[in-house]
Amino acid sequence: MRRQKLLLGGFMGVGKSTVGRRAAELAGVPFVDLDEAIEARAGAPVAAIFVERGEAAFRALEAEALTEALATSGAAIIALGGGALLDTGRRRAVLEETFVVTLTARHSTLAARTEGMTRPLLGGAPDRAERIRELLDARAAVYAEAHAQIVTDNRAIDAIAAAVLQAWSQPTLAVPLGARSYAVRLTAGAPAVLAAVARELRPSAVFVVTDENVQRLWGDGLGAALAAAGVAARATVVLRPGEEHKRLAAVETALTAMVEAGADRDCLVLGHGGGVVTDIAGFTAATLLRGVRWAAAPTTLLAMVDASVGGKTGVDLGLAKNAVGAFHQPSAVVIDAAHVTTETPRAFASGLAEVVKSAALGDAALFALLEAEAPRVLARELSLVEELVFRSVAVKAAIVARDERESGDRALLNFGHTIGHALEAEGGFTRLSHGEAVALGMVAMLRVGVALGLTDAALARRVEALLAALGLPVDLDAQPLAAALRFVALDKKRRGAGVRAVLLRGLGSAFVRETPLADLPGLLGVEA
Ligand SMILES: NC(=O)c1ccc[n+]([C@@H]2O[C@H](COP(=O)([O-])OP(=O)(O)OC[C@H]3O[C@@H](n4cnc5c(N)ncnc54)[C@H](O)[C@@H]3O)[C@@H](O)[C@H]2O)c1
Repeated sequence: MRRQKLLLGGFMGVGKSTVGRRAAELAGVPFVDLDEAIEARAGAPVAAIFVERGEAAFRALEAEALTEALATSGAAIIALGGGALLDTGRRRAVLEETFVVTLTARHSTLAARTEGMTRPLLGGAPDRAERIRELLDARAAVYAEAHAQIVTDNRAIDAIAAAVLQAWSQPTLAVPLGARSYAVRLTAGAPAVLAAVARELRPSAVFVVTDENVQRLWGDGLGAALAAAGVAARATVVLRPGEEHKRLAAVETALTAMVEAGADRDCLVLGHGGGVVTDIAGFTAATLLRGVRWAAAPTTLLAMVDASVGGKTGVDLGLAKNAVGAFHQPSAVVIDAAHVTTETPRAFASGLAEVVKSAALGDAALFALLEAEAPRVLARELSLVEELVFRSVAVKAAIVARDERESGDRALLNFGHTIGHALEAEGGFTRLSHGEAVALGMVAMLRVGVALGLTDAALARRVEALLAALGLPVDLDAQPLAAALRFVALDKKRRGAGVRAVLLRGLGSAFVRETPLADLPGLLGVEA
């Protein structure tokens, strides 16, 4: 899962070329300094290109040089110019294909390091430190979009290079959302990595939110790792497990514990559990003191591939699923796929429903892999589970990056969820697990698509067969569908008398179709 090309970005003077050269030596891979490549192309120094041809011409040369460097085969480390990834389209594309590390430093460090250097954008600014601060502020959201950010102040080159290579070796996905960007790291031995991530965030205090099952099975390991890293939890909130407890009462319990323990705005809430826990932890963080940071350490397959990523947080209210909530992105997500080994078969299968959803929405190869390897998947072979997690998160991260707040494409992630949530509510949130309900919801949407002539019947059969092979329920007719349909009226994505049905045209080709609520029974073949 390691990506072939490592791009080193960050502000001018942060040490990209020096660190890149050293890291390449240590890793035994070629090194490209993009500014040198541009100078070779243009036959002139960077500063002269800026002055004589202007910034736009320089950026065009830079883009060409980067495209050329990325086109070479094999691994390589490429040091970028400070402005090379300012273009959002190019930045997002390289984030999907390469591994991007931002080197960071305090502006005072940068002012000292650039002293005496000829830098076009600093020019003859009278107050160099102030100009650096302005440029850094303007570019903070760009530099935040990376797989890792590595602090360089007061660190030796070798230590920085080693940290860069360590980050590169870890399967990581970036969720690029400007200043709200974060990385999703897949790692074995998550407690130690999670503790290190928590420490990097320099919180005033750490509050762990978990549930009784996770605490019993995995709590000691996390507690010990946090303590060893010097960020021991100031309070650990152990919630009652299960969807029926994903309620405001749980949020109040967590908030009370944190406020009583002296929480301030620099604290960090760490959600360690399944989707119920991460939803509650995230929402608690969103509301505590009007918003504090949180990190997710998901422990179920479902939370790894879906609930912990994307920043939707919240709880159920009455029979309305997720009716109270907030968009609040985590600062980090750390996944140790080994957690799935202690899940019940039912909970694990529930997560597989969201994997199938991701595959259907955006990764046909993942879909084929699931079809070919269902027995190995059900046996929870770790390397395979890691691949499922990585690929599913990649689908979700790409969609969330395009549409953080669900004004467009993100609605596709609701494939199977409208009817799924209704079935879940009809069963009092206990009869069906979330994933089981989503599986049945996907079957329902395939049926609607076929009835409308928009989904091929063979595709519907293929998705159903895969869900069944993975141990998920697909017999919609055995469900109290008519009774469940009245809960669709409670769905938050409902628009007036219509629902936004997510339908499938083909693998990787989903779309939203506004469908009158009144048409649903007929399309699903149930008595209204
Ligand atoms: N925020 C989002 O974007 C989003 C997306 C999808 C789902 N969700 C939410 O996620 C929730 C479902 O998540 P879930 O399926 O993880 O449910 P869950 O959190 O209830 O976990 C299922 C059960 O497994 C236990 N458990 C957790 N980790 C375990 C482990 N490693 N070993 C043994 N037992 C373990 C839990 O205690 C619980 O009993 C739903 O509330 C759903 O709405 C949220």
